[in-house]
Amino acid sequence: MSLWGGRFSEPSDDDLRKLNDSIAFDRALYAEDIEGSVVYARALAEAGVILEAEADAIIEGLRLVKEEFDSDRFVLAAGDEDIHTAVERRLIEIVGDVGGKLHTGRSRNDQVATDFRLWTMRAADRLLDDLRQLQASLIAVAEAHIETVMPGYTHMQPAQPITAAHWLMSFFWMLERDRDRLAAARARMAVCPLGAGALAGTPFAIDRQKIAAELGFDRPSENSLDAVSDRDFVADMLYVISLCAIHLSRLAEDILIYSNPAFSFVMLDDRYSTGSSLMPQKRNADPMELMRGKTGRLIGNLTGFLTALKGLPSGYNKDLQEDKEALFDAFKTMRQLLPVVTATVRNLHINREAMASALTDDLLATDLADYLVRKGTPFRQSHHIVGAAVRAAAERGESLSQLPLSAFKRISTRFDDDVAQVFDFKRSIRQRETYGGTAPKAVRAQIARAKARLDT
Ligand code: ARG
Repeated sequence: MSLWGGRFSEPSDDDLRKLNDSIAFDRALYAEDIEGSVVYARALAEAGVILEAEADAIIEGLRLVKEEFDSDRFVLAAGDEDIHTAVERRLIEIVGDVGGKLHTGRSRNDQVATDFRLWTMRAADRLLDDLRQLQASLIAVAEAHIETVMPGYTHMQPAQPITAAHWLMSFFWMLERDRDRLAAARARMAVCPLGAGALAGTPFAIDRQKIAAELGFDRPSENSLDAVSDRDFVADMLYVISLCAIHLSRLAEDILIYSNPAFSFVMLDDRYSTGSSLMPQKRNADPMELMRGKTGRLIGNLTGFLTALKGLPSGYNKDLQEDKEALFDAFKTMRQLLPVVTATVRNLHINREAMASALTDDLLATDLADYLVRKGTPFRQSHHIVGAAVRAAAERGESLSQLPLSAFKRISTRFDDDVAQVFDFKRSIRQRETYGGTAPKAVRAQIARAKARLDT
């Protein structure tokens, strides 16, 4: 029997029931649902709506229901369409008619919004921890490679030398912004809808400030109509998760490229590599491909849910029930990915020699232009002169550093025999020591700041 059958003469159609029921997935909210009800029962007694003894009986009954869920002994009954109806049905079975007083002035509309906010706040806390661990792994590997020089790329073409630490730390800061966004989303969602009723608020004088505080919210919601239909917090979470996954898909792509034997800059540890059923030589970086691939699914959860929200009329609408599977899936996916990505990074083998042998003179073309700048040539001219030198070297089938001084001098009289000093990758790196640069000195300072951020 459903909780709302009074006005109908016939039970709902079986197929509709299957479509409408959310118990298969919102069972995950049982702890939050029961917490909300415990606080609400107390609030009803304090408002004089029910007796203290009735609240005590309800709270004791809720404790028993929770125990059944905790120990996986809870048995679903026909009519348990969602977690709210299931808990209430079982409560009434255990404590009798007094259990039917719990829902006074309350609606599943403010109830589900409360439960899901609480659940989402906790999910945000777990993700914040997971991200912190991934960031710590990036720092740990970066610290061992502050002096490891590798080619840096733009447009996937060789650009300038950087250090491997600098490359890895770039992802630290993306994740740091993701943590900021997550913390901001969490702060924004800490608003308690309970007491909003179905849409108009409640005529019973419950203390909403107290309810909010006891449940761990910062404050009660300001507008009951907004409170029951607002799912911004779900959209916020889906976006934060998507953007974080997008960042990690870029790290994954770097690792995939750098682990290709044509690069061999990095190698995944055996525990995080996979083989081929046919080709014995294969060492595939499946975890990185899964990170990249599942990002699509996470963006799908975001766009799907935003589309469900678009154009909804005021108040609660059943469309909103779509919020849960989208976020549950995103959260579960992220929690599967993050430990693997963290371990893959922490156990990444970085091949200093392969990185060093990929350093080509053209990566120093900018340094060569800067050399001329230091001798007084305007940068625009230096750029052009070095371009001519690159072309001359290519025509002779030589690298830039092999070009004889006489050839350099034919291109510009500003070149002197000290030009040879430019062709030194370590020197190039060392020069970039301003704040945020790739020089070991600057990267050490960067890592110190990163550690300070992780500790706060
Ligand atoms: N299962 C519903 C959901 O997840 C709970 C709220 C139902 N409210 C209602 N008026 N039917 O959104």
